[in-house]
Parts: sequence; structure tokens; C-alpha cells
Amino acid sequence: MNDSNLLDRARALDLADPLREFRAEFEMHDDHTLYLDGNSLGRMPKAARDALFNAIDAEWAGGLVESWEKWITLTRSSGDAVGAQLLGAPAGTTLIADSTSVNLFKLASAALDSGIDRKVVVTDRHDFPTDRYLMERLASARGGTVRWVESDPIEGLDIDQLHSVLDDEVALVCLSHVNYRSGAIADMTAVAAAAHEVDAFVLFDVSHSVGSVPIDVVASNADLVTGCTYKYLNSGPGAPAFLYVRQDLIEAFDAPLPGWFAQKDQFDMGPSFAPAPGIDRFQVGTPPILSATPIPVSAEMFERAGMDQVRNKSLALTDLLIELFDERLTDLGFRLGSPRDPSIRGGHITVAHDEALAISVALRQYENVVGDFRMPDGIRLAPVALYTRFEDIAEAVIRLERIMKSGVHLTVDANQRVT
Ligand SMILES: Cc1ncc(COP(=O)(O)O)c(C=O)c1O
Repeated sequence: MNDSNLLDRARALDLADPLREFRAEFEMHDDHTLYLDGNSLGRMPKAARDALFNAIDAEWAGGLVESWEKWITLTRSSGDAVGAQLLGAPAGTTLIADSTSVNLFKLASAALDSGIDRKVVVTDRHDFPTDRYLMERLASARGGTVRWVESDPIEGLDIDQLHSVLDDEVALVCLSHVNYRSGAIADMTAVAAAAHEVDAFVLFDVSHSVGSVPIDVVASNADLVTGCTYKYLNSGPGAPAFLYVRQDLIEAFDAPLPGWFAQKDQFDMGPSFAPAPGIDRFQVGTPPILSATPIPVSAEMFERAGMDQVRNKSLALTDLLIELFDERLTDLGFRLGSPRDPSIRGGHITVAHDEALAISVALRQYENVVGDFRMPDGIRLAPVALYTRFEDIAEAVIRLERIMKSGVHLTVDANQRVT
């Protein structure tokens, strides 16, 4: 198919897209840039700007300290909104707090210090660095160790392999739902069942799935979950993360970091710490109100879009990307770094190439295609259902092909940082 036929076909898919109206709800600075990095930082919803201006003008400048009447419950109400729309979580089990890294620390600490006489943490050698570093530190600080599972770098976790490292020494299994490099999905239900079979807790990092792949924390029987809000949830740079704790575990765990926001009767300013009832015990200190402000705005967009529709479109976008990869990129030295099987494919596609870093730089510099580079040889391309068009996918592949055929990537400074 030539370029013009391909673009016509992609435009027809856009016309038939039930989510096409959502794109207009996002800020598009220029029409020429193809933004395929929403799994790193999502585009800004226009309604986020309105919410932020209101928080700045009316609540901060106007209300000043009086606004704490509203702000004091923001982390819980926004947590409930994320829980309901994106996690399938009942009210009172999800909280907006801190960063994903800090929440991983808090949730894993709560599990490891819950009275079980075990010190082994199972995690994945190919997981995101922050998860690996934290699990190693948390295990060693308690005289324990990490036991590694070696997932396939492209196809992801093999559940039999997970079973083979589990026994009655394991306190906690900590894994990503969707791998940050390949986008492979781990089966949350099967992972949780495997962990529970040996009476271990299970903690999921859903940073790369939330807002892209449906999650049901109750049906999958997850114990603990955390994830970022600035990726597919489009809540802005540094927006705080969410955490979820299974309802019947909340009161069984002590506050992992006993700051005053985790304290029962916070404003009594009592002499000693007692954990707040409910999910509030997983707070620590004053939440970043301005940074949290776009989160309920985003949750409301997902409520209107529906996660099933989001997943359907996301798969259709990555299907098209894989089809074009097969047709146009394999002869140019690219390898597919993501699963073909849609049942284990998350929201982004990684294409691997020996010159991946230089190609990433050239794509941004010469063709305004924004994906990102991940060591050692991956270019991640993340089409986002709420704002990426099928036409963008077709056009991105056309531009990528053009870079390769011109050889311009061989002339760029490949040491430039590509986030
Ligand atoms: C899978 C995963 N986990 C955790 C993090 C870290 O999140 P934060 O820097 O907000 O703690 C990231 C960041 O990109 C991530 O991709």
C-alpha cells in the first residue's frame, strides 16, 4: 500500500472511532508533532488547566488556609475516583499520595512488617529500576534477600517460572502489571493466586497499565497496588501517585511511615502516634494539592470514555502499528520488542534497532515524532486511545521510514538525552 492509500485508510478508521471526540479535549500545541510518549507524560487535558487556575486563583489566592476545608479530603475523594473508574476498587481503598516509588516503599514495608516471619521478596529482573532497587533495600534492611524471576524480555512473565521461585520463605511478590520496556502484560489474577498459594502478599506496580489496560483489583485479588498518574492518566508532571490496599488488609497493617497525616485525630496533636482508621494511615505528610488537582478531572474523562472502549481502541492502534512494522520496518533492521498476542500486549509498542538511540534523536529532531528510547536498543511508541489518531500511527511509520532511508540518524549526536 502506498503512503497516500495508507493515510486514507487510517483516516477512515479515525472517522469510525467512537472515542474520536476526546482528542479535542486535549491541548495540541501544534498539529505537526506526533506525540507517542503518553506512557511517559500524558498530554494535558484542557479541563486540567481550568481546574488548576481555579485551585490557584479561588482556592489558594482567595481562600488561603480556609481552602483546607476542601483540600483535606482531596486525596481520598480523588483516590476514590481513580479507584472506581480505573481500578475497580471499592470506595475507601484507594488514596492519592506521594510518588509511585515512595508508595512501593510504604506498601512493601507494611506487608513485610505485618508480623509474618519471612524475609524473601520475589521480583522481576526486568522490572523498572525503582521497583528493583527498593525491593533489594527493603529485603536487606530486614536481613532478607530478593529472589529474582527472569521474565522474557519480550513476552513477559511465565507463570510457571514464578511458581518455581515461590515457597514458604517468600513474604512478598512485587511485579509490574505491564512491563515498562516491552509492554507485556502479567496476568494479575494468576500472579495473585500464585503468591497467595504460599501465603505471600502481592504488590503490583500498574504505572504502565492504568488508563490503558483494564484493571480489576477485586476480581484479581490483588493485595496492594500503586501506579503513576502522569502517564496514561494525563494528570501532569509530578502529579502524585495512587495506592490501593485490599479492604480487609487496611486495618491489619500499621502505618508504614507514621507522619501526622497518617495519625488518628490528626489535629489533636497528641503525644504519640496511633494510626488513622482506614486508608488514611497510608498518607504521610501534606499532600501536593496543586499537583493532585488534575487527577479527578482525568478520572472523569475515563468515566465518560469507558475503559473497555479505551482498551479496544488501544489494541486497534497497536494492531495497526504492528501491521505497518511488518510491512515497512523489518527490512530496515527493526525487530519487534513487544508481544504480538493482543491478550498480553499493553498500551505501547517497542521497536528495537541497533541504532535505536540515534533514531530516537533523529525522529524528534527531523520529523517531530516523539517516542522515547529505553536501554539497550528500544524505541517505545505509545499511542494513547484518548488522543492518538490512526492517522498519527500511519504518519509516524512513514516518517520513521523516511529517517532510515535518508540515513540522517547517522549524522545526529546520539549522546543527547532522550527521556
Ligand atoms: C513502572 C514504573 N514504576 C515506577 C516509576 C517511578 O515513578 P515515580 O518516579 O513517580 O516514583 C515509573 C516511572 O516512570 C515506572 O515507569
